[in-house]
Amino acid sequence: MTMQSRTRRDFLKGTALALGGAIVGLSEVSCVASSAPVVRVAIESNILRVETARPELFNVGDGIQLNAPELEYPILLIKTSESKFVALSTACMHLGCTVKKQPSVIRCPCHGSVYDLEGNVLNGPTQLPLHQYSLTMSGTQAVIVVD
Ligand code: FES
Repeated sequence: MTMQSRTRRDFLKGTALALGGAIVGLSEVSCVASSAPVVRVAIESNILRVETARPELFNVGDGIQLNAPELEYPILLIKTSESKFVALSTACMHLGCTVKKQPSVIRCPCHGSVYDLEGNVLNGPTQLPLHQYSLTMSGTQAVIVVD
């Protein structure tokens, strides 16, 4: 075996390993990708108002991710019944990673905690539900108190 062939083999082996790692990495990302459309919002005097009569919140189980510069973590606004919405922090109660909404659950990409769409724990390691913000409805507008 020549030095050149060993070098080529090492290069190919290294490339294959790198590609394999990249594919695994991509599949992990896609497994925890958020299905919640992002909506930029403004907070005034700790109150956040969001119109719920929108196509992204048409079906029970739909949700949107609310982003505002003042928020350390985005808020998930989720339609949990025809007339009820919840506003949940995206801060995982295990170690604080940002959770992602999926069609029927909320999943943490860091250590695998799973919450239902009302923020209750379905699977650890977390022991605590997601923080739920106070939310009232004013017509079709959700009024969320950001504390
Ligand atoms: S930070 Fe979410 S499971 Fe650990």
